[in-house]
Amino acid sequence: MKPLRIALTKGRLEKSTVELFEKTGCDCTEIREKGRRLVLPLGDCEAVLAKAADVITYVEHGVCDLGVVGKDTIAEHGGRYYEILDFGFGKCRFCLAGKKNFDFYSGFDSRTIATKYPNITRAFFEKKGMNVDIIKIEGSVELAPLLGLADGIVDIVETGSTLRENGLEIFEEIMPISARLIANVASLKTRKAEIESLTERFEKALSQK
Ligand code: PRP
Repeated sequence: MKPLRIALTKGRLEKSTVELFEKTGCDCTEIREKGRRLVLPLGDCEAVLAKAADVITYVEHGVCDLGVVGKDTIAEHGGRYYEILDFGFGKCRFCLAGKKNFDFYSGFDSRTIATKYPNITRAFFEKKGMNVDIIKIEGSVELAPLLGLADGIVDIVETGSTLRENGLEIFEEIMPISARLIANVASLKTRKAEIESLTERFEKALSQK
């Protein structure tokens, strides 16, 4: 039988996931010395290294059975797959932030928000019944209020250093984020036993922390 194929979000989450695989007793030498390779053996699985949103695409389409991706990407992209485990690493939070001492909610002027996450931003302000203009920014979103493009940003805050060092502050916390294990809908039926066994090994390794 083919190994289970698991898509990992490249970067920080990849590192933590490999460490977790190591804790389950897997040999992770190949992925630790991967060079520029994108498909590698990882324990009994085959790992695929991809960008966060693409992890979801590969899992939804069934070319990967499993994926490791942040709740931020899940919340922004939605889609048809199961979220089966909260790894508890990659912890951060979605926040509304902006220039220090700016009274974001006062007055009647409509607000402009810069973000990499327009869907989450729209949903957040719709719930409040607030009409906002959303401008999509690809990275270093903190620049937008500094340059006068936006009144606020909706972005991920981990340590808070980026906000602090740029004279910005949190106005409101939106939701907590951590890395999740997602599964393709069909794989969860056809390869149920293997996925359950892997999930149990993960849970055991996580509880040993
Ligand atoms: C993320 C996020 C913030 C920063 C928050 O950006 O968008 O800019 O990290 O982290 P902190 O609270 O620990 O300072 P990332 O480094 O992923 O780069 P990007 O801005 O280009 O998306």
